[in-house]
Amino acid sequence: MRILSGIQTTGNLHLGNYLGAIKQWVAMQDQGECLFFLADLHSLTGSMTPAERASTTIEMAATLLAAGIDERSIMFNQARVPAHSELCWILQGTARMGWLNRMTQWKDKAGKNRDGAPVGLFTYPVLQAADILAYKATHVPVGEDQKQHLELTRDIAEKFNTDYGVDLFPLPEPLISKAAPRIMSLRDGGAKMSKSDPSDMSRINLIDSDDLIAQKFRKARTDPDPLPDSFDALAERAEARNLVTIYAALADVTPQAVVDQFAGQGFGAFKPALADLAVAKLAPIRDRLTRLLDDRAAVGAELAKGAARATEMAAPTLRAAQQAVGLQI
Ligand code: TYM
Repeated sequence: MRILSGIQTTGNLHLGNYLGAIKQWVAMQDQGECLFFLADLHSLTGSMTPAERASTTIEMAATLLAAGIDERSIMFNQARVPAHSELCWILQGTARMGWLNRMTQWKDKAGKNRDGAPVGLFTYPVLQAADILAYKATHVPVGEDQKQHLELTRDIAEKFNTDYGVDLFPLPEPLISKAAPRIMSLRDGGAKMSKSDPSDMSRINLIDSDDLIAQKFRKARTDPDPLPDSFDALAERAEARNLVTIYAALADVTPQAVVDQFAGQGFGAFKPALADLAVAKLAPIRDRLTRLLDDRAAVGAELAKGAARATEMAAPTLRAAQQAVGLQI
């Protein structure tokens, strides 16, 4: 197995990123060769100052280390490995406008103002395909929202192999977290927890203090009913279902085990228990992160080391892709 995944460097990591992706990454480090990267090139499709972009990359890398990514994995930032951009351009000859036009993330993010959207927002999934295919990754652990981009990656790989008569790119498998495929906003059970939500109360950030975590869960939207004795009975109660899912994913138990424990109790009892559990799990990560950020240069050095290894790994695939299309490099 060659396992690869990335995260956009557009701000703080939140509980959705952690439970949907990073917790899986940490657990998979013994299951294969692992590459995890900070998608700083992808962040160019959003608005950030250069200074913010540079510091966010270091902070997010430190967060991955604090969460448990260690020397078993290769961790780097995308911009330091030019193969991503080079392969992206080659794959833009393979990807089709119609395919990209169907991407829900493009439609959501561009909204009504498509003419004003950066071109990179449209071609974003081709860079994501290059990220994955440059290493011939076989498994990509992501949250459910990335499933469509993974399907597109498979389509691009298949078309490239067929068009050029090569067997270069394996078709990568998405690994969607079973415990937390889609963590929802604490303010709206119909919207996913997201960095771009204007309300900070909608998400738990991995840097939030214990008090802020407790306050956010206390103020989370719920309903007046007590918890039922079956998780399936929460199908129509999105906010309640989300809090039970978060509890289960943090405690490494099934959602049914959580409702078995709390059946008949209201949110007055459940929310403080959830806040305590979240603090117990997240505070050690935040404390490690704070210590790591005392030496930002050391985090930068880790990224440089990872990038050197990643560059070596991507080189033969990039060369093979260039040869397949007839570029003499
Ligand atoms: P990004 O930065 O939006 O999110 C990083 C990871 O966190 C997952 N995630 C969630 N999971 C569950 N519930 C949520 N509310 C939630 N929010 C985010 C995402 O699914 C993702 O796994 N395009 C990617 C970054 C990327 C990438 C790649 C990923 C660039 N190149 C190559 C895999 C392989 C993104 O924007 O993720």
